[in-house]
Amino acid sequence: MIRVLGIETSCDETAASVVTLDGGAPKILSDIVLSQIEEHAAFGGVVPEIAARAHVEALDGIIEAALADSGVDLADIDAIAATAGPGLVGGLIVGLMTAKAIAAAANKPLIAINHLEGHALTARLTDGLDFPYLLLLVSGGHTQIVAVRGVGDYQRWATTIDDALGEAFDKTAKMLGLPYPGGPNVEKAAASGDAARFAFPRPMKGSAQPDFSFSGLKTAVRQAATAIAPLSDLDVADICASFQAAVADALDDRVSRALARFRETFPDKQNPALVVAGGVAANRTIKTTLEALCEKAGFAFVAPPLKLCTDNAAMIAWAGIERLRAGTSGENAADFVPRSRWPLDSISAPMVGSGRRGAKA
Ligand code: KG4
Ligand code: ZN
Repeated sequence: MIRVLGIETSCDETAASVVTLDGGAPKILSDIVLSQIEEHAAFGGVVPEIAARAHVEALDGIIEAALADSGVDLADIDAIAATAGPGLVGGLIVGLMTAKAIAAAANKPLIAINHLEGHALTARLTDGLDFPYLLLLVSGGHTQIVAVRGVGDYQRWATTIDDALGEAFDKTAKMLGLPYPGGPNVEKAAASGDAARFAFPRPMKGSAQPDFSFSGLKTAVRQAATAIAPLSDLDVADICASFQAAVADALDDRVSRALARFRETFPDKQNPALVVAGGVAANRTIKTTLEALCEKAGFAFVAPPLKLCTDNAAMIAWAGIERLRAGTSGENAADFVPRSRWPLDSISAPMVGSGRRGAKA
């Protein structure tokens, strides 16, 4: 039996969780996530300094609560797994230092986890997927397609050359005067809008290059909004619906290429699967588009429960278990330094600089 305490502080969620593996299926014994949305809402985005301070204030209590909820004593925990990057460095320092202190005091091994690896391996925690599979990660900080080949064996096939998709939703919302976080509010407004009113560009559609781009779409939205200002509620709804349709269409094109590449790369893989992760995966239009695409291409569509798709510590604890099991947990990470940039795949170089919500690579 393996029991791991996970800690996540890379962006604006303070989270701790205990996950156990006892022969059969893994179990999440506790999963506590404190969102800082209210602290950042007034600023229309995550403010790194506020985030770091909020992590300092909350983390001890969240860890205590996660241990209490799980019914497992710290003495019976096998290892501490903490997110060590990529993300906002202030939060990473808080989480990793706290984990180091607990590991030292309780004499437990410490495993430094790449946040993206947490997202990449979640489908094995929730759905028991076998390697290899394809991951589409769409959040406020990341937009990537990754071939997940094994624990520690990831190939990034596509990333964004400018904005992350969640960022594009958030910026669109801000331009239209919708509250933060933008994604859910854009989706809500889009529900009563006409997706055919504005012919927004489908970024990268048809391009042989596998990557994403959303800044041109953002500019097109701004131009359309400026041209018809002041905006009525109906205008806002129509822009949101047209924006969402453009995004779904662009994703459809990008992901269908990746599915074809997966077939070519892993011709013997039976029942291949596409996994989605990240907050944008909550979007119904995007989900429906991807579901239809997978059905057509003969892929299973795996969307873990939203709570485990967005930032959480259960995925970090689970990545720790995977690494322990694979014998790749590394040396005790007591002197591991947090990395604001840390590509999951060390071969594919980072494509863009640090985004508003942390490093995108
Ligand atoms: O994964 P997540 O909770 O946090 C990180 O970015 O790490 O993702 C948050 C992002 C935000 O940009 C938010 O606007 C977007 O996911 N989002 C959505 C929806 N819900 C959240 N985007 C589109 N439609 C949604 N329903
Ligand atoms: Zn994340």
